[in-house]
Amino acid sequence: MGLKERLAELREEGLQEIKDSEDLKKINQVRVKMLGKKGPITNVLRGMRDLSAEERPKVGQFANKVRDELTAAIENKRAELEQAAMDAELEAETIDVTLPGTPVAQGEPHVIQQIIDQVVDLFVSMGYEVAVGDEVEQEVYNFEKLNLPKDHPARDMQDTFYVTPSVLMRTQTSPMQARMLEKHDFSQGPLKMISPGKVYRRDTDDATHSHQFNQIEGMVVGKHITMADLKGTLKVVAQSLFGDKLDVRLRPSYFPFTEPSVEADITCFNCMGKGCAICKHTGWIEVLGAGMVHPNVLRMSGVDPEEFGGFAFGLGPDRFAMLKYGVTDIRNFYQNDVRFLTQFDRKG
Ligand code: PHE
Repeated sequence: MGLKERLAELREEGLQEIKDSEDLKKINQVRVKMLGKKGPITNVLRGMRDLSAEERPKVGQFANKVRDELTAAIENKRAELEQAAMDAELEAETIDVTLPGTPVAQGEPHVIQQIIDQVVDLFVSMGYEVAVGDEVEQEVYNFEKLNLPKDHPARDMQDTFYVTPSVLMRTQTSPMQARMLEKHDFSQGPLKMISPGKVYRRDTDDATHSHQFNQIEGMVVGKHITMADLKGTLKVVAQSLFGDKLDVRLRPSYFPFTEPSVEADITCFNCMGKGCAICKHTGWIEVLGAGMVHPNVLRMSGVDPEEFGGFAFGLGPDRFAMLKYGVTDIRNFYQNDVRFLTQFDRKG
């Protein structure tokens, strides 16, 4: 067989093998086998030495043509196989976006947080600034600067968790009164602040006591602020939370950091003042402690009580939530039983 015939045969053989290649590995093998240095085409080219000068270029040309043809066929096949591999991969990884997803349970603010948000939003709308303090507090801010010197009997009103002899878990949000009074620049106008947060007391947990609960402190200090302002403000809060027919009444009370001090009652929203089990047949429900900021508190925070004065109050969102929803055991709020908590989800 002449070289030309041999080349033609190799071309047919090669094209067939290329056609039959099923994957990229196989096409690579074919390339090495047909076109490599030890392959049959190279071999044929070597045999050209023995050809006549006339025939050599013709065979040479033909050999090049065969090689180019095979190279092109290999490249085409490779591209085709690569495309097929890519298609298969895409096919395998296809996501059916129409399939139903796995439902993810979405949280809702805790019922007490909802009350806090409502109260805070209300005060923000009246121009109060929100101040968030630390739950671990210095004893001086929790007591001394609130007019409760060491050995003051009123300290017993609030059994305290101590961290060190001078650091404690705050028993009330009132330390924020002193902290904000110290910070405020009265040349810029009155101080109006609202401060929600957790507080701690060494109480045994029962239906109406929790060793950790929430308070919202409010304070306004400036010029010419009266107890009527306090009462009006409390009325706005009560009415926005419980309904606009409610009234507020103040009863004398005692807190070391306010003088005079009051406890505020609202009309029982259940019986509208007629008397029922919730209000223990008084027609009124006690909701918070308040008073006019004691001159000593102002003085200790560097504010002149001759020039400035104001009111402060502390309300318990836990108690508000209990009243509002008729919850009789405060522990329900903290045991995190979702069957209880989801009842208050606003999305239902
Ligand atoms: N801090 C008081 C308490 O925890 C409540 C209060 C706040 C009273 C502000 C008067 C003024 O009982």
